[in-house]
Amino acid sequence: MKNIVITGGAGFIGSHVVRLFVNKYPEYKIICLDKLTYAGNLENLKDVEKAPNYKFVRMDICDFEAFYKLMQDEQIDGIIHLAAESHVDRSIKDPFTFARTNVMGTLSLLQAAKLYWESLPEKYEGKRFYHISTDEVYGALEMTHPEGIPAPFSTVASASGEAHAAYGEEFFVETTKYMPHSPYSASKASSDHFVRAYHDTYGMPTIVTNCSNNYGPYQFPEKLIPLFINNIRHRKPLPVYGKGENVRDWLFVEDHARAIDVIFHRGTIAETYNIGGFNEWKNIDIIKVVIKTVDRLLGRKEGEDMNLITYVTDRLGHDARYAIDSRKLQRELGWEPSLQFEEGIEKTVRWYLDNQEWMDRITSGEYEKYYEDMYKGR
Ligand code: NAD
Ligand code: DAU
Repeated sequence: MKNIVITGGAGFIGSHVVRLFVNKYPEYKIICLDKLTYAGNLENLKDVEKAPNYKFVRMDICDFEAFYKLMQDEQIDGIIHLAAESHVDRSIKDPFTFARTNVMGTLSLLQAAKLYWESLPEKYEGKRFYHISTDEVYGALEMTHPEGIPAPFSTVASASGEAHAAYGEEFFVETTKYMPHSPYSASKASSDHFVRAYHDTYGMPTIVTNCSNNYGPYQFPEKLIPLFINNIRHRKPLPVYGKGENVRDWLFVEDHARAIDVIFHRGTIAETYNIGGFNEWKNIDIIKVVIKTVDRLLGRKEGEDMNLITYVTDRLGHDARYAIDSRKLQRELGWEPSLQFEEGIEKTVRWYLDNQEWMDRITSGEYEKYYEDMYKGR
C-alpha cells in the first residue's frame, strides 16, 4: 500500500499515527485529513509537516464529493479512520454533532471508498479500510471487587509484565455484545456496524479495532489527565466526577499507534482486535499519582496539591468499569504494550510541563490560527 489517508490526523491519537507512518514509511504518501474542529491542532504535527511524504488536507469527512475526488486524485489504497467527535461529556450536551460526524461521516467515507475502489480494474485487491473504535461500545463491566484484586490475578490475562490490580474477573473480549450507554459510544457503535456491513455486503476489506483509554502527549485538555495536569500547575480545582471510583484501563498513546501500524499491515480482513494495557485504575487513584508526579516535577512538596481534589456531580450514565482483554492481538500479531504505567505517566506529565506553550496556546485559543498561518493559500 502506497497512498494512505489518515483521518483525524491532527487530533490526539491521529497525530501519533501520522508521525509514526511518516517517519517509518518514507515510500508511502501519507495524507493527513482533518476538519480542524476545536480538537484538531496542526501544531501536533510541526515536526513532520515538511516531510516529503506528508500532505495535509483540510476536509470534513461528511463531504462525500470532496472525499471521493481526493480518493481519485491521490489514488488512495488505504484509509485509517480516526476522525470523530471523541469527548463523552460533549456528547451528553450535543448528541447531534456526534451522530453527524461519527455515523454519517464514517458512512460517507465508506461509500466514497466503495465507489472508487470498485471502479478500478483490481477492485479491492491491496486495499484496506481500517476503522479505529473504542472499548466504550461494549458498555460497562461490573465492579465485582471494588477494593481491587492484587496481582497475580490481574496479571493472569496479561502476556506482559505487571498490571495494576483488577476490579473484576470479566474483561471485554472481541465477541462481547455491544451495549453502548452514552451518545458518544452509541455513535461509535453505529459506525462500527456500518464498517462491518460494508465488508459483509460489498466485500470491502475492513478491519475494526476497539481500544481502551489513551494517555500521553498532545491530548486535548478536556480529557482527565491533561486537564488535571494543567489545573494542578495553576492550582485550580480538580473536578472528580461522583466518588472517583470508576475504573478505566489506560494505554500509552504511542503503544496504540504501534498497534495500529501492526494491524493495518498484518491484521486479518474482517477481524476485530481489542487493544488495551491490562492496566486498570480507579480515577481517584490515578489522580493521586498525577498530583504527586506534577508536584515532584515542579519542585513542590509531593502531594501538597491533594487539597485541589473537588468531588462534583457525577457524569450522567457514567460507566463503572472498562477493562480490555487484548490477548488476541498479542497472540496473533505479537503486539504488546511497551511501557509500564508509572513510566508512561512520568513521561506524560514531564511532556506537558516541558511544553507549557502548547497548552497555553490551546487554552488561549491561539492554536486555531496555525492553519491560516501555515497552510492557507498553499
Ligand atoms: P480527538 O478529539 O483528539 O481528535 C479527533 C480529530 O478528528 C480532530 O483532529 C478533529 O479535528 C477531527 N475531526 C472531528 N470531526 C471531523 C470531521 N467531521 N471531519 C474531519 N475531521 C474531523 O480524538 P482522539 O482521542 O485522538 O480519538 C481518535 C479516534 O480514536 C476517535 O475515533 C476515537 O473514538 C478513538 N478512540 C479514542 C480513545 C482515547 O482514549 N482518546 C480510545 C479509543 C478510541
Ligand atoms: O475508553 C476509551 C475512551 O476514553 C475513548 O473512546 C474516548 O474518546 C476518550 O475520551 C475516553 O473516554 P473517557 O470518558 O473515559 O475519558 P475522560 O478523560 O473524559 O474521563 C476519564 C474518566 O475520568 C471518566 O471516568 C470520567 C472521569 N473524569 C473526567 C473528567 C474530564 C472526571 O472525574 N473529571 C473530569 O473532569
